Amino acid sequence: MKIGFIGLGIMGESMSENIVKKHNDEVYVFDFVKEKVDLLQSKGAIPCASALELAEKSDVIISMVPKSEHSKQVYTSITPALNSTKTCIDMSTIDPSASVEISKFVKQTGAEFIDAPVVKSKPAAISATLGIYVGGSKEVYDKMKDILLYMGSNIIYMGENGKGLVMKIAHNALVSQIQNGVNETLTLATKNGISVEDYTKAISYGGGQNFYLDGKSKSIAENNFATAFSVENMAKDVDICINLAKECGVNMPGEAVAQEVYHKSLELGYDKEDFCATIKTVRGA
Ligand SMILES: NC(=O)c1ccc[n+]([C@@H]2O[C@H](COP(=O)([O-])OP(=O)(O)OC[C@H]3O[C@@H](n4cnc5c(N)ncnc54)[C@H](O)[C@@H]3O)[C@@H](O)[C@H]2O)c1
Repeated sequence: MKIGFIGLGIMGESMSENIVKKHNDEVYVFDFVKEKVDLLQSKGAIPCASALELAEKSDVIISMVPKSEHSKQVYTSITPALNSTKTCIDMSTIDPSASVEISKFVKQTGAEFIDAPVVKSKPAAISATLGIYVGGSKEVYDKMKDILLYMGSNIIYMGENGKGLVMKIAHNALVSQIQNGVNETLTLATKNGISVEDYTKAISYGGGQNFYLDGKSKSIAENNFATAFSVENMAKDVDICINLAKECGVNMPGEAVAQEVYHKSLELGYDKEDFCATIKTVRGA
C-alpha cells in the first residue's frame, strides 16, 4: 500500500518521517516549501512536484495543513486523481463543517475520507505518541488504524465524519482555558515575588497540576517562545470553537475570554511565536 503525505510543517515533518521509518512500501511527500520536501527525501521519502501527482501515485493520502482553506485547496486539487481505490485522511485541525463538506465531494469520486486530527505537540509527533481522534466510517477507520499507529499511540473513534474534529476543538478549547488560568495565576504569583520555578513546583503538589504547565514552565521561565504550536494556529481553533458554540446555542464565557487574549496576541504580533507567548499578553509583555 503506497502512502502519500501532504504538508511537512512542524507536525507533518515528524509524522511523515515515522511513516517512512515504519512502512514497508513507498511513501510520497509534497509541500509548497521545497526545503521541507528535500528534508524528507533525505530520510527516504519520494518527492512529488504537486499534490495531484502524489494522489495519483498513492493508495492512502494523508494531509496535515494549517486551516480549512488549505484542506479545501488540497482536496479540490487532487479530486481528478480520486476513485474507489483511494482513501484520504485529513489530520489537520479545521472547522468540522468544512471537513464534512470536503468528505462529501471526496466521497462523490468513490474515494473514502476520514478526519483524524491529533493532540499533543512536536515531541509526541517525533516519538509517535500523538493522540488521534477519528471521524468517519468505522470500517474505513479499522482499515486505516495500522497507518495511524505509525504516528500515534492513543487513538479513539468518535463517530461520523467531522466528529474527530468536534472533539479536537473541544480539547483545544479546554487547553486554551487551562492556559488562561495558568497565565493569570502565574502573573499574580510572580508579581508577588514568587519565581516561575517555585510556582510550578507548588502547583504540581495540588489539584491545579496540569500538562500545559508541566510542558511549558521552562520555556516561560526562560522567555523562550520558539514555536512548537503557533499562536496563530491556536487562535484559529479558539475561533472555530466560538463559532461552533454559537451555532449550537452553547454559552462559553470562559472561551470568549480566551478568544479575547488570542486576538490581542495576534494584534501584538505574536502570531508566529509559540502559543505560550500569550503569557506576554496577560502580564503586559
Ligand atoms: N504544532 C502543533 O503542536 C500541533 C499540534 C496538534 C495539531 N496541530 C494542527 O496541525 C496542523 C498543522 O500544524 P503545524 O504546526 O504542523 O503547521 P505548520 O504551519 O508548521 O505546517 C503546515 C505545512 O503545510 C504546508 N501547506 C499548506 N498548504 C499546503 C498545500 N495546499 N499543499 C501542500 N502543503 C501545504 C505548509 O507549507 C507547511 O509546511 C494545524 O491544523 C494545527 O492546528 C498542530
